[in-house]
Amino acid sequence: MELARFLHGTSDTRTGGQTLTHGRAYEAFGNVFFGGRRRQVFTRLARLSGARPGDRALDVGCGTGYLTLCVADAVGPTGSALGIDPSPDVLAHARRRAVRHPQCAFADGIAEDLPGPDGGYDLVVSSLMVHHLPEDVRARAAAEMYRVLRPGGRLLLADFRPPANPLARHLVGAVTGPVMEHNPVHLLQPLVRDAGFTGIETGDLHPWIHYVRAAKPTDPGTPAGPGTPGASAAPGERA
Ligand SMILES: C[S@@+](CC[C@H](N)C(=O)[O-])C[C@H]1O[C@@H](n2cnc3c(N)ncnc32)[C@H](O)[C@@H]1O
Repeated sequence: MELARFLHGTSDTRTGGQTLTHGRAYEAFGNVFFGGRRRQVFTRLARLSGARPGDRALDVGCGTGYLTLCVADAVGPTGSALGIDPSPDVLAHARRRAVRHPQCAFADGIAEDLPGPDGGYDLVVSSLMVHHLPEDVRARAAAEMYRVLRPGGRLLLADFRPPANPLARHLVGAVTGPVMEHNPVHLLQPLVRDAGFTGIETGDLHPWIHYVRAAKPTDPGTPAGPGTPGASAAPGERA
């Protein structure tokens, strides 16, 4: 259906994933979708990410930059927040709204081949992006997030949680398409764990968001896994 195509855009030749092509319309839909709670949800996500003054943060699949700007507020003028996305249209929209945030920048990029050196970020965040990736590249994207984080750096992934009620779920599918109706958010946790992250915590935010937060071990040479001594910095804690 049209709205599903508009929400999930066109196929990106670099990734096979779906990129957005209508920044302004996505923005309008986002406000309706969150039923007036968008600011609250994304501010909470920024807080859950553990973003703090001076952090170098990366927002993967930033879209129109809503979360990037919330994170930019948290990292302040001594930090930096870079949002990357493969869609030129949403990046143009994000740049327009970030004029009063000199610590905030936007660039072309894809999750499975992130810009930046190993260990270049204190924090990686990503909201509503993973369901855009083909299943067979999700592990690669998680590995890239791990690579660009410094030891002890923090990760926050958030994605759409389909309603438990079958009728409501079906309605979501009718409006937004099958990807969101059946979005397997429970797989975010194993995705993050298998990439090597530790200290994993999960939760839900009303109305539609499931999140996973985790940390790159302070000693990445230590095998990952629950209970591994010295392997994790709790999310939100600086190593
Ligand atoms: C539903 S939007 C979410 C945007 C924003 N993070 C938010 O929460 O409003 C998903 C975004 O992921 C982007 N995307 C699609 N494939 C991607 C990829 N391989 N790497 C990074 N971003 C991708 C799309 O272009 C789109 O802007």
